[in-house]
Amino acid sequence: MVITDIRDLERLARKRLPKIVSTYVENGGYEEETLRRNRDDLKAFSLVPRILNDVSERSLVCDMAGTHASMPIALAPVGACGLTYPNGEVEAAIAAKDAGVPFCLSTLSIATIEDVAKATRWPFWFQLYMMKEKRVTEALVERAYAANCSALVVSMDLHVRSQRHGEQKHGLEAPPKFNLPNIMDALTHPRWLFSMIRSKRRTFGNLIGLVKDAKSISKITKWLERQFDPTLSLKDIEWARSVWPRTLLIKGVLNAEEARQCIEHGADGVIVSNHGGRQVDGAVSTISVLPTIVDAVAGKGFVFVDSGIRSGIDVLKMLARGADGCLIGRAYLYGLAAMGRKGVLKALDIIRTELDQNMALCGVRDIKQLPAGLMVESRQSLPTFSH
Ligand SMILES: Cc1cc2nc3c(=O)[nH]c(=O)nc-3n(C[C@H](O)[C@H](O)[C@H](O)COP(=O)(O)O)c2cc1C
Repeated sequence: MVITDIRDLERLARKRLPKIVSTYVENGGYEEETLRRNRDDLKAFSLVPRILNDVSERSLVCDMAGTHASMPIALAPVGACGLTYPNGEVEAAIAAKDAGVPFCLSTLSIATIEDVAKATRWPFWFQLYMMKEKRVTEALVERAYAANCSALVVSMDLHVRSQRHGEQKHGLEAPPKFNLPNIMDALTHPRWLFSMIRSKRRTFGNLIGLVKDAKSISKITKWLERQFDPTLSLKDIEWARSVWPRTLLIKGVLNAEEARQCIEHGADGVIVSNHGGRQVDGAVSTISVLPTIVDAVAGKGFVFVDSGIRSGIDVLKMLARGADGCLIGRAYLYGLAAMGRKGVLKALDIIRTELDQNMALCGVRDIKQLPAGLMVESRQSLPTFSH
């Protein structure tokens, strides 16, 4: 099969993964309205090409929160990424290093912070979920610091867990159901099954040694269910600032006033995100609120964005709306699930090529200097005929 776009990687991933895992990757909260809205709203914008600029010399390089990146992309934190491919987080982190973009490791990864640090020997970002058990949160921050992580990404949008119908229907809950349909599902996907049998780790690696019985997936998922902390607020950003001297980013911001507050209370930037449509269903799309957040931050911090990005054209649109850079979740996860490290590199290559070609076609030489008027809402671009 000739792989031309992220959709091809998605199709290949769906073939290799058992239904329970592909559902985990793909599904969104409740009726998945926000999941769809992220895509629909991206499509509702149109680029306005320019044809009179010499674009023979082009640059995609930029500053991604202190990382000199080859393009304005970072790999978003993905929990249990290593369930899609053996040693998945390490494979993705090496691919990110090879492609010259930041990798962000989730608190709920299968590989540990130390596994990734040892394999890459390159600074990566660490995403923190603040647990109710503060000693666990503190220990994770200390380990991320010791592992030379260059940025701490505090995700604030999972203080209460949303409901995902797809996961519930497939028994992906706490504890996960190992019932006959799920066993049959695994057995009928032998490529995934046999690769996972060889996998070094099968539970949330970072929690082993910190939480009793963390090796038992059913016990650790039950423990996790009790750890979502609805008290999260600005005081937690202040706490993170007091213990983390390097770059601090707050993820899950959708409100302009809150973005301003995050920066005022010490964050170096925000990540505009609705968790890829996995939390509040009916929430705004990220592209729709982006300009208000860019205005509120007013150049005092980074504004990154994710949710719904599946191509370099989507990246260009997010940048035209004012973002400093984009995170991609499923777009790289499909590549990883389909082909491991090679698949992540393929996903990044696809996005890089699309971004480069389309910025050239729009008359842009430097990704950091997008002209005004590069994009309009599609409705506005419709010609009006007068008779
Ligand atoms: C399977 C999956 C697991 C995720 N796990 C985490 C996580 O552990 N921490 C986090 O902050 N965000 C997590 N996210 C959200 C991503 O970081 C990111 O916000 C989202 O994937 C962006 O949307 P996209 O998938 O449409 O690119 C997860 C997303 C997916 C798809």
